Amino acid sequence: MNKANQVLLKEESRIGADLAAWLSVGGGEGLAAALREPGAVIAQIEQADLRGMGGAGFPTHRKWAPVAAAPDGDKYVICNGNEDEPGTFKDRFLLEHTPHQVIEGALIAAVATRANHVVLYVNPHESRALAVVREAVDQWRQHEHISAIEAWLGVPLSMSVVPSSGLYIGGEETAVIATVEGGFPFPRRKPPFPAQSGVHGVPTIVNNTETLAHLPGILREGASWYRGLGLGAASGTKLYSLSGDVLRPGLYELPMGTSLQELVFEHGAGMLQGKEFKAVFTGGPSNTLLTRSDLDVPLDFDSVRQRQSRLGTGAMIVVSEGTSIVRKVAEYVNFFAQGSCGQCPPCKGGTFQLARVLNRIDTGRGVRADLVALANLCQLLPGSGRCGLIDGAATVVQSSLHHFSHEYKALLMG
Ligand SMILES: Cc1cc2nc3c(=O)[nH]c(=O)nc-3n(C[C@H](O)[C@H](O)[C@H](O)COP(=O)(O)O)c2cc1C
Repeated sequence: MNKANQVLLKEESRIGADLAAWLSVGGGEGLAAALREPGAVIAQIEQADLRGMGGAGFPTHRKWAPVAAAPDGDKYVICNGNEDEPGTFKDRFLLEHTPHQVIEGALIAAVATRANHVVLYVNPHESRALAVVREAVDQWRQHEHISAIEAWLGVPLSMSVVPSSGLYIGGEETAVIATVEGGFPFPRRKPPFPAQSGVHGVPTIVNNTETLAHLPGILREGASWYRGLGLGAASGTKLYSLSGDVLRPGLYELPMGTSLQELVFEHGAGMLQGKEFKAVFTGGPSNTLLTRSDLDVPLDFDSVRQRQSRLGTGAMIVVSEGTSIVRKVAEYVNFFAQGSCGQCPPCKGGTFQLARVLNRIDTGRGVRADLVALANLCQLLPGSGRCGLIDGAATVVQSSLHHFSHEYKALLMG
């Protein structure tokens, strides 16, 4: 991609906490545009077809509309920067290198929905990102745009930085809300959705860091500019976290809809040691795997969904022929078992049971009945928790059984 078209990873935006530097490259103009016509922001986000980059790809304008429509009073915008899933490393980069872009995005959300609380929720394991964001928020507090926002709201705007628990579950949106309220990161069932009842029961938006980082550009340059950055029907750009068995892993900002083939073989420079591509854990380790026949898939929300998978966060963990799928899946399911908050017995027990059986098979102690047990658990477990953790764990196991049953069978004792 032409660097001029990059929205999030522009060289000049790697300015850390220096607000003046951000403003000197067009920062603040998106927010100023939002303040000129606050009532038009949500329609613009809809025209830009901005989707949530935190996993579900949910249309951002649909999340915001009910909060904007709610009567004036306390409302929250939370930037979700927890990012603890294996293979995803985009939000910490944004928070550390271009925090003002993210904060400006959160302020635009506050203007559009008349929210008077903005919270930057940051993983404390990313200590540099946390320090940079704290400094960046302090700089914004002094800026004239904040007075303009307060004039529009008619009340003071509070801006705070809340360290997350650093746990994987702490990124789930209702756990985010519980943490911001000062509690443990325990998800709760939805509905009510955060837009109806979030922090302390008031309308709340929880958006992923990358989602918010796209906003200043959309407001500054316009929705059709943003749409034009994507390929085919897809809109905008996407940060892809590329890792695994590729020669050049890293964070790539590319047009939304770039093919998996291009990402792996051009940007990632192909497979390590010239090995064959086997599969990719798409959107992180909690989705359906894509395999060699999917290399042509455009990496956008709708196209990946048509292959029965999900773009998720845009994490792409590439696996070569030399790597055991069973071992990878066992590692990830162990992660989910450790990460379950324990409130829902089917999730806590189910993830541990999946992990136990996978570990047994991976270490050559599995029997045929273990495959049946795995398949049964994958049928039983989805939908049994308050949040999506157990669904993700079951999905990746089921998908690996579907595509790579021969690998499982080859590891059985008899
Ligand atoms: C177990 C679990 C962990 C999650 N962790 C994160 C996270 O670290 N960051 C994030 O943005 N979304 C995370 N999500 C998704 C959030 O619940 C929520 O959908 C997202 O923050 C919404 O932002 P978006 O609409 O901008 O995508 C997680 C979901 C689950 C089920």
